Amino acid sequence: MGNSPAQAKHVAIIMDGNGRWAKRRALPRAMGHKRGVEAVRKLVRSVGSLGIDCLTLYAFSSENWKRPDEEVDDLMNLMRKFIKSDLPEFIANDVRLKIIGDWQGLAPDIVAMLEDALEQTSGGSRILAVALNYGAQQEIARAAAKAAAIGEVTDKSIAAHLDTNDLPPLDLLIRTSGEVRLSNFLLWQAAYAEMLFVDTLWPDFTPEHLQQALDAFADRERRFGGR
Ligand code: IPE
Ligand code: IPE
Ligand code: MG
Repeated sequence: MGNSPAQAKHVAIIMDGNGRWAKRRALPRAMGHKRGVEAVRKLVRSVGSLGIDCLTLYAFSSENWKRPDEEVDDLMNLMRKFIKSDLPEFIANDVRLKIIGDWQGLAPDIVAMLEDALEQTSGGSRILAVALNYGAQQEIARAAAKAAAIGEVTDKSIAAHLDTNDLPPLDLLIRTSGEVRLSNFLLWQAAYAEMLFVDTLWPDFTPEHLQQALDAFADRERRFGGR
């Protein structure tokens, strides 16, 4: 039963294609990642006016450690810079930062910066959830272990122990760059999410693209197994 037009409240994005964006311009991959951060910044500024309560961004996967050290370093340095430069804006714009994934396993200075940012944005009402050192299978395994520890391995109990337990249900999952796979992102949460795969490379993804995605979502009929 469609109650459209529906507004997606929780949108998650697999931000893919930074490398290919750079390659097409004969630029170093690092430049693609840098422009990718700028795309993130513009998007975060737009979520309020787009009516989104929670934006979840896949920034670094558990498997991204396999990349060359130099690229991993670039990504971690961009993370440091981004938190430093954008934290005041988050606070001013009522954004509450949330981190999912095994982020305590990142470099100690990043963990400290994130802890501070979480604390300073805790009063915000719109959520920006960033997936860092995140793998959905690992997240599910951690949640299942916690559920087992209390002797209650059910779907509800596992969901209650996921990193996303305080986020609204996932409505829309977008992946940029034309790849059609989930790459270990939000496997549990995607059970009934609508999915949208777009060819745009991440550095080119604008708030207008997100608005188009929300329009496409509003036209979908969600059934959740019913009729
Ligand atoms: C996404 O862009 C950024 C991260 C995975 C951190 P990629 O670096 O995967 O770009 P492509 O897929 O090689 O184009
Ligand atoms: C997924 O992109 C991870 C992020 C966007 C952070 P990848 O580029 O790592 O995924 P694969 O390797 O193409 O599946
Ligand atoms: Mg990629």
